[in-house]
Amino acid sequence: MIKYDVKDLKLAEGGRRRIEWAAREMPVLGLIRERFAKEQPFKGLRISACLHVTTETANLMHTLQAGGADVVLTASNPLSTQDDVAACLVTHYEIPVFAIKGEDNVVYYKHIHAALDHKPHLTMDDGADLVSTLHKERRDLLENIIGGTEETTTGVIRLRAMAADGALAYPIIAVNDAMTKHLFDNRYGTGQSTIDGIIRATNVLLAGKNFVVAGYGWCGRGLAMRARGMGANVIVTEVDPLKALEAVMDGYRVMPMLEAAKIGDIFCTVTGDINVIDRHHLEVMKDGAILANSGHFNVEINIPALEEMAVSKRLVRPFVEQYELKDGRSIFLLGEGRLINLAAAEGHPASVMDMSFANQALSLEYLVKHADKMERRVYSVPEEIDREIARLKLAAMGVEIDTLTPQQLAYLNSWEEGT
Ligand SMILES: NC(=O)c1ccc[n+]([C@@H]2O[C@H](COP(=O)([O-])OP(=O)(O)OC[C@H]3O[C@@H](n4cnc5c(N)ncnc54)[C@H](O)[C@@H]3O)[C@@H](O)[C@H]2O)c1
Repeated sequence: MIKYDVKDLKLAEGGRRRIEWAAREMPVLGLIRERFAKEQPFKGLRISACLHVTTETANLMHTLQAGGADVVLTASNPLSTQDDVAACLVTHYEIPVFAIKGEDNVVYYKHIHAALDHKPHLTMDDGADLVSTLHKERRDLLENIIGGTEETTTGVIRLRAMAADGALAYPIIAVNDAMTKHLFDNRYGTGQSTIDGIIRATNVLLAGKNFVVAGYGWCGRGLAMRARGMGANVIVTEVDPLKALEAVMDGYRVMPMLEAAKIGDIFCTVTGDINVIDRHHLEVMKDGAILANSGHFNVEINIPALEEMAVSKRLVRPFVEQYELKDGRSIFLLGEGRLINLAAAEGHPASVMDMSFANQALSLEYLVKHADKMERRVYSVPEEIDREIARLKLAAMGVEIDTLTPQQLAYLNSWEEGT
């Protein structure tokens, strides 16, 4: 019997139906799975994955397993696990999972250690908690490791910092940097699922509300676009003049958080930064303001300050905590300030995760073939993988495009032709 730690194995059957439902929207990963089953690129290799335990991740685990890998999975966030999926992976796929929705930080890291006990040849991470634990506390395991992948912006930033310090001990491919990842997953995936999380948690009407988006990066663009589509008056806050200018020309109001704080009804941070909503912002917010975060860590809203300012707090609905402040105002915090799209909804739709996880699968295969020639640093996903995924996705969607004629190819590559 395999070792695991999940909430309840009886949830497995429901998980299986939902995993199969997600698979219908993941045709690119499906094609990769068929090829992996024949070619067995991971035969004899152990993989420790630290990812959000969702239906889409289950399909990725199944794909790696079909390719011969011996996989274990742990959560990349204490609130992002779907317990039915965890149960199904253990029961029906015999994949050890260490993840329980709502686990505390102690259990979260205990689970990361359990995944590392698997003595991986390859690591997969989302936020770099597994890789940093491995480098800080389990260095004995480093000698086995061929390479790894990283899913998200925040993780890539952490790993690049490790590489710059000379601390990174093996090559990592930054899946987030692939066009077929961040253009779609961060923008359309986070955009839609963050709105979904806020609505599922609160059931508030977005039309007519002042909706403040902090950060106009890939996720912020998608979130602002979708909030506007629901009829909200979107306000953007930024620190980067280029992104701020883009937001202005995209038609949003842009202002400092201190100004936005006074008029916002709903706030959502997606920056990867700390204390973007800080004490002095909380002090000027309207009674009833709703706060959420969709960035990777729960540090974007200064929750300790909110705790200090409050005289009482109570859970008014699942994932909605009311903080009553000394001056009588109430502020509502969603999902403990953790990524709201995974805490209160189901994370990104399968159709975008199809591309993100195709990048994961093909990047791992690339590492197996090339890691011996790679340095201890963070690499982008090879362009040929990125383009192949786009090609396969279009084909799966039944969309055809034109091909350059020989004349166009020559024209685009020449410098001699002009006016
Ligand atoms: N919820 C999810 O499922 C999900 C999915 C993908 C990425 N993420 C996470 O979301 C975060 C953002 O990712 P991204 O790809 O959009 O990153 P990005 O780098 O494209 O954008 C972040 C933006 O935030 C801005 N910013 C930084 N500090 C700020 C501040 N104090 N105030 C206002 N703006 C500020 C930056 O200038 C930048 O434009 C990361 O933590 C990433 O890991 C979450």
